[in-house]
Amino acid sequence: MRLLRACFGATPLANVTTIAALPTRRATIRLARALATVLARGDLVILSGDLGAGKTFFTRALARALEVSREERITSPTFTLIHEYVGRMPIAHADLYRVADEDELVQLGLRERRGDGAVLVVEWGEPFEAALGGDALRITFDLAPNGSRSARIDATGERSRELADALRAANGLLPEA
Ligand SMILES: Nc1ncnc2c1ncn2[C@@H]1O[C@H](COP(=O)(O)OP(=O)(O)OP(=O)(O)O)[C@@H](O)[C@H]1O
Ligand SMILES: [Mg+2]
Repeated sequence: MRLLRACFGATPLANVTTIAALPTRRATIRLARALATVLARGDLVILSGDLGAGKTFFTRALARALEVSREERITSPTFTLIHEYVGRMPIAHADLYRVADEDELVQLGLRERRGDGAVLVVEWGEPFEAALGGDALRITFDLAPNGSRSARIDATGERSRELADALRAANGLLPEA
């Protein structure tokens, strides 16, 4: 890729932010389904937003779209910290709300799971982005006081920018001006 850029003078993808309106649960499910079409093994997705903003709801829809069996319950890993599923690819769903520091994070072995080819979907993962290997697609859910919901999408590295771009295309979103 670097070589191609050197040959053709292509610039890296710009770091753009997109806001997706999520007025209904169905809209959130659609966004998760769009992400499922573009995710690859080893991708890191960090989900942020307040309690009840929709991180676990989104992950459940994503796991279903990645073909995790309907028979498997997809619940919040609030206390267990990590739940693992196998669909089209292995998925590690973590909730780091209760993780105090990087030492504790290392014990969980999430970075190794990523290296082994699992997709990491991490709630409350922003403080640990670097420790998880960086290059994260970040989806930040917002629940406004008037009840309206949205998600801000951005990326912190080359692969995740590619992913964000593909997600925008798959979900028909336009980058912010
Ligand atoms: N448009 C929407 N998108 C997502 N969830 C919605 C929407 N509308 C209503 N909800 C509801 O909001 C709740 C979101 O809860 P969820 O457990 O996903 O939050 P969370 O962000 O994971 O919270 P926590 O930080 O406690 O883990 C669910 O009960 C879901 O049904
Ligand atoms: Mg949750």
